[in-house]
Amino acid sequence: MNLHYEVISDDKIECCREVCNELMAYQKAKSSITPELFDNMNFDTRMVPSIKKALSNFIVVVKDDDKIVGYVYSNISPKETYSNEFATFFDLSSVSKNNVGCLSQFYIREGYRQYGVGSKLFNMSMDWLKHFDNVEDYFIFVSNGNHDALKFYQRKGFTVSHDILDGFITVLRNSK
Ligand SMILES: CC(C)(COP(=O)(O)OP(=O)(O)OC[C@H]1O[C@@H](n2cnc3c(N)ncnc32)[C@H](O)[C@@H]1OP(=O)(O)O)[C@@H](O)C(=O)NCCC(=O)NCCS
Repeated sequence: MNLHYEVISDDKIECCREVCNELMAYQKAKSSITPELFDNMNFDTRMVPSIKKALSNFIVVVKDDDKIVGYVYSNISPKETYSNEFATFFDLSSVSKNNVGCLSQFYIREGYRQYGVGSKLFNMSMDWLKHFDNVEDYFIFVSNGNHDALKFYQRKGFTVSHDILDGFITVLRNSK
């Protein structure tokens, strides 16, 4: 393995298409509560609009030589972003500042997991999220059935807040 980490700009996200779509398929495979909700979720419907809507984005890809083997995508967004026609992700009044941070998408290809790559990407994301002075609340949304990811985030200090959409998503949060 010849791994290296690259922060990429918003206009270069096309390179994440394949890994983003793999993440959606992975989550659907793990899910038992309304897995069909994933059918409309892909790079074009999730990552592209999210990047456009957010105030600031942070994307890191991991490459093995030239091949992308994982990525993490985090953003800073107005808290109102999380109350929409799809769901109310959290009680907006529980967040004192206008904006929140979110670790939004995270995927390491099979064969590259359990080597510390995820921890490295997670730490890079948290360092980035925490440098915004006007943000105090951080969220991660985990789809049902993904127990490994849930435990990973809990080991990293996030706590389960509540479930939404009848258990389709578990909301994890942390604060400064
Ligand atoms: C969740 C995910 C991103 C974690 O990435 P990862 O690279 O496997 O994570 P790490 O290797 O850093 O850590 C996982 C565990 O592996 C073990 N580990 C880490 N480094 C290790 C090493 N060098 N040797 C052996 N084990 C190691 C540890 O038990 C670690 O647990 P910790 O959290 O207590 O440190 C990855 O498993 C993944 O992409 N899963 C599929 C997609 C997914 O679920 N995404 C999340 C959507 S919300």
